[in-house]
Amino acid sequence: MASIPSRVWPSALLSIVLVAFCGLADCFDPLDPNGNITVTFDIHQWTTDGYVARVTTQNYYQYRHVDKPGWKLGWTWAMNEVIWSMSGAFATEQGNCSSFKYQVPHSCKKDPTIADLMPGALPQNKSEDCCRGGLLSAWAINPAASFSSFEITVGNIGENTYVQAPLNLTLMAPGPGYTCSPVLDTDPTVSSDIGGRRQVQVFRTWRSTCTYSSFLANKTPVCCVSLSTFYNPTITSCPKCSCGCKDADKRTESCISHTGEVDRSSSLDLDDVVQCTDHMCPVQVHWHIKNNYMNQWRVKLTISNYNYRRNFSDWNVLVQHPGFSQQAKTYSFNNKMLPTLGFGDEVALLWGLEFYNTELLHADEDQLGSVNTEILLNKDSHSFTLSNGWAFPRRIYFNGENCEMPLPDTFPMLPNGGCSSRPSYYQIILLIFFTFVTLATWL
Ligand SMILES: *[C@@H]1O[C@H](CO)[C@@H](O)[C@H](O)[C@H]1NC(C)=O
Ligand SMILES: *[C@@H]1O[C@H](CO)[C@@H](O)[C@H](O)[C@H]1NC(C)=O
Ligand SMILES: *[C@@H]1O[C@H](CO)[C@@H](O)[C@H](O)[C@H]1NC(C)=O
Ligand SMILES: *[C@@H]1O[C@H](CO)[C@@H](O)[C@H](O)[C@H]1NC(C)=O
Ligand SMILES: *[C@@H]1O[C@H](CO)[C@@H](O)[C@H](O)[C@H]1NC(C)=O
Repeated sequence: MASIPSRVWPSALLSIVLVAFCGLADCFDPLDPNGNITVTFDIHQWTTDGYVARVTTQNYYQYRHVDKPGWKLGWTWAMNEVIWSMSGAFATEQGNCSSFKYQVPHSCKKDPTIADLMPGALPQNKSEDCCRGGLLSAWAINPAASFSSFEITVGNIGENTYVQAPLNLTLMAPGPGYTCSPVLDTDPTVSSDIGGRRQVQVFRTWRSTCTYSSFLANKTPVCCVSLSTFYNPTITSCPKCSCGCKDADKRTESCISHTGEVDRSSSLDLDDVVQCTDHMCPVQVHWHIKNNYMNQWRVKLTISNYNYRRNFSDWNVLVQHPGFSQQAKTYSFNNKMLPTLGFGDEVALLWGLEFYNTELLHADEDQLGSVNTEILLNKDSHSFTLSNGWAFPRRIYFNGENCEMPLPDTFPMLPNGGCSSRPSYYQIILLIFFTFVTLATWL
């Protein structure tokens, strides 16, 4: 039996402890601790009763994108400001503008909500870097499409000679889950002019940083992991009820079984209906260990969509596995290694190839929507082993959400290799985990 290199231990322990903390209290994502979405107001022009600002929303999350139906930004004005006009976005409500006799503002709401325009908006309503329909790509995947800007003309600041930043910024991206810091004064944004030979700066810059928490979003798990190998016919399916149960559980969406029979709810909004399964997850990621060569090993990764109506555009999958410390070739997906920030196993980010499989299609009566790839990994002779579950992933995320993993004691076993007197890597991790959880509950 291959032994487990001792350097695995501290990092494995640390990651388990971090995950445990996240479960118990709200916490940042340890695999993307610097991720955030910043909202920057750059005032670049004063007007007789206010200012003109360029507002930029930048997604710094490595693998969390802002999906359809797009972001919505809200705030509360500190004084009696109104929005005279906007380009590149619009306020969803005009509000009560009855006190303006001559020129009618775009919005008079005390707490306006701003939404993005579609890419096909009229040229006169557009501004620079605008109009992505509210979508923002993940920073590690497409930085050029990870931000969006609009222009806003603010007025009616009254007698005040100074301007005040908006209060209580909110970001729906889409839906809840983001918490934004106060909008604060910061160093003015500098940009270059005359081919980079001159630097110009805006008059004033305000910024807020918004961070995501799946705890606040109150999301049920959306994804689970199943496993199989070439050396054992057993398929380890997703843990039962990973994303809810078919009946008696209000968390679940409605589901339709293969016969076309509808369980639960009679008035169906089909957008949220998934195929009936034991796990009830909208998305399943399957990890199949396909070949074991002399110097390499091969995995087939399949992502399946159980939704009947929902496509996933620009999906991504994050895999944490020590095997990615060696060179890996991904045949049908893009692949990028992310920095691990010194706490353990390598993290690979995978996403679709343009014009080929960036769209994970919905299921229909006959089949699931799915995308797959083979991954050929070089072996590190010191750490590679098929025993003790080493070759299975430590953690998988789909679109930034953690996927439920099967318990280690259900993993496919090596044919003869299973009856070791030593406790396995995973049994020990599990033991540490439950000890920790028990301790934490006691404290
Ligand atoms: C937001 O993310 C950027 C990029 O990762 C980082 O430089 C910045 O410090 C973050 N801001 C906060 C307040 O965490
Ligand atoms: C609209 O605003 C005006 C003046 O501020 C006020 O007199 C009026 O009652 C408001 N109308 C409504 C429907 O709130
Ligand atoms: C687009 O511009 C026209 C006039 O230029 C204006 O009437 C219309 O409200 C604008 N639409 C949006 C969505 O801003
Ligand atoms: C901003 O939010 C805080 C805390 O939720 C609240 O107490 C305050 O009244 C809000 N301010 C405005 C102007 O809405
Ligand atoms: C999903 O994508 C397919 C193929 O692009 C398209 O025909 C279908 O309308 C899409 N469905 C939804 C609900 O967006």
